[in-house]
Amino acid sequence: MNPFERIKSKIRTELEDKLPKKWKKIGDILVADFYLVPSEDQAKIAEIYANELNVKTVIQKNKVNGELRKPKNTVLLYGNDTITKISEYGLTYNIDLSEIMWSPGNTGWRSALAGPEKVSELYSFDNPETIIDYFAGIGYFSLQMAKSYSQSKIIAIDKNPKSIEYLKINAKENNIDNIEIINDDCRNIQTKADVIHLGYIGNTEDFLQHTHTSLKSNGIAIFHEAYRNSWLGFKSRSDWGGVPDNFSELMNSKGFSVEKFERVKFYGPSKSHIIARLKKN
Ligand SMILES: C[S@@+](CC[C@H](N)C(=O)[O-])C[C@H]1O[C@@H](n2cnc3c(N)ncnc32)[C@H](O)[C@@H]1O
Repeated sequence: MNPFERIKSKIRTELEDKLPKKWKKIGDILVADFYLVPSEDQAKIAEIYANELNVKTVIQKNKVNGELRKPKNTVLLYGNDTITKISEYGLTYNIDLSEIMWSPGNTGWRSALAGPEKVSELYSFDNPETIIDYFAGIGYFSLQMAKSYSQSKIIAIDKNPKSIEYLKINAKENNIDNIEIINDDCRNIQTKADVIHLGYIGNTEDFLQHTHTSLKSNGIAIFHEAYRNSWLGFKSRSDWGGVPDNFSELMNSKGFSVEKFERVKFYGPSKSHIIARLKKN
């Protein structure tokens, strides 16, 4: 029996089609959508999921809110500890899932030089003196880049004090010391860099002007964003490869040429989360 069949076998059959068949296990916390389960049954059913899937806490799936991407009203269905530890490509991250988002779908893409070839190609820089991570969060990208480039200085910035609290813990726990951690809006940082990392989705383009000013000549920006598949020129899921013309033109207008372009994942029904390596013109 697979885990879902085991769970199902412990629950009244009339609730069967209301049970979440998919979930995300983040460290030892489960996030799933129990919305269809009648509220009086949710706690008991969440406990069954917790026991079968070996987690300490079950959280109702929710959206993230606002510029700081904070999870919206966390509802605990089982357990009460929302702090967990995640391991990825040789690093560990402590995170409070009630305060800070974590995208399981980005696993692999946060690996800098430690993971798949298409990621390490994007993240291969020639002896960078300074790398700045504008949206560092709890260190998803900063710590991996600091580990990959131990001779470089990494400046990790985030506007959310809670993320910064965890980023400091995570840097210490992973013995990363070539990092400076700053709690501020990235647009207030005037330091010049060889590489600027923009791990944000929503209005990442708005940060390109500051990125351009802050990059040294020939500097590199690693740019994340989500665009409509139709704008990117993709009609089907397999329709992928090369740099879309619209994207090249847009980046040119911002003073960058596109060196590499990849799709991270589908992002909702009609968009794709993309990552690009941009060179300052
Ligand atoms: C969505 S998270 C990054 C998620 C991450 N890419 C992942 O793989 O899970 C983006 C971070 O950017 C921070 N942020 C948003 N606007 C900012 C700004 N203007 N300056 C600095 N940090 C900012 C938020 O606080 C948040 O921690």
